Amino acid sequence: MKFTEYESIDLKNKVILITGANAGLGYESALFFASKGATVIGGVRSLKRGEQAKSRILNLVPTASIHFLECDLSNSKSIEIFASKVIESFPPIDILLNNAGIMAVPFELTIDHYESQFGVNHLGHFRLTSLLFNHLNHKARIVNVSSMAHMQGTLDLNDPHYSKRPYQSFKAYAQSKLANLLFTHELNQRLKNDVREIMALSAHPGVAMTSLFDKVETASWMRIIKPIFGFFAASAKQGSYSLIVASLDPNSKPDLFYGPQSMKKNEVTTNTKMSILAHDVYLQKGLWDLSNQQCHLNFLEN
Ligand SMILES: NC(=O)c1ccc[n+]([C@@H]2O[C@H](COP(=O)([O-])OP(=O)(O)OC[C@H]3O[C@@H](n4cnc5c(N)ncnc54)[C@H](OP(=O)(O)O)[C@@H]3O)[C@@H](O)[C@H]2O)c1
Repeated sequence: MKFTEYESIDLKNKVILITGANAGLGYESALFFASKGATVIGGVRSLKRGEQAKSRILNLVPTASIHFLECDLSNSKSIEIFASKVIESFPPIDILLNNAGIMAVPFELTIDHYESQFGVNHLGHFRLTSLLFNHLNHKARIVNVSSMAHMQGTLDLNDPHYSKRPYQSFKAYAQSKLANLLFTHELNQRLKNDVREIMALSAHPGVAMTSLFDKVETASWMRIIKPIFGFFAASAKQGSYSLIVASLDPNSKPDLFYGPQSMKKNEVTTNTKMSILAHDVYLQKGLWDLSNQQCHLNFLEN
């Protein structure tokens, strides 16, 4: 699929919510959607950085309908307040782009006592999706941003927060990115009982030069090889293409995994490899139950 096919799309009357919309892939996606006439709601952990991103977008697209609200995915209260404001102030959502993320950061527990990568990358989006679920349009799409790093991921349902095993920052990232795919699959299973035609998809950007790499723990091999990434990595704009195509592809089907076509930075494919664990139905269901339990929710419980 060529990204250029979407250049002339009209997104007037579409409402698109993006987490982590102030930087990297989220910012580029917000800019694209806003430039095509969509109403864009950006969830940002820092309102100051959100306002700066909003000004940049308005400079480029003066007619943009762009709204940045605080949403710290490491804090359940912040997510709840954000979701309430969205439901109160905006029409139902057409595209929920669960994009925000942190990678290979030093060990830290969130305010809700979750390991931060599992907490932000997975549980934060699980909670947000649950809270916004009744505010999704009839044919809404939920796009979860994963990574090829999920291939290195395993999920320990008995120790998701690394309280019993030694913490390894990249393994914890990979676990959270595997969780994004497991969440997508199980969500589609449970959506079969919903009268609406909502579907969940996944996307990854390949390797794109964004600030994601700046927060990697100092000792990580990722920090050491970062300069090498520069040679083959895509730009943040190019990295956003697979997220945008996953959000808009008219021929999409539940569970597709969108990513860049290798070497062709303007093309997106759904032939992306997914690990065997991502298809493990025991893990999919187990993660769902664990997430409901950890978040004190009963989201689409059987
Ligand atoms: N770049 C790549 O090569 C690559 C590869 C595979 C997958 N991905 C995935 O792509 C997604 C976007 O990453 P990116 O590359 O665009 O990185 P980025 O430039 O660092 O952007 C990440 C965004 O997430 C936000 N964020 C971080 N923690 C948050 C929290 N607690 N609550 C709310 N928002 C939070 C950041 O906000 P601040 O600006 O305030 O920090 C920022 O807006 C992530 O899910 C990442 O795992 C990226």
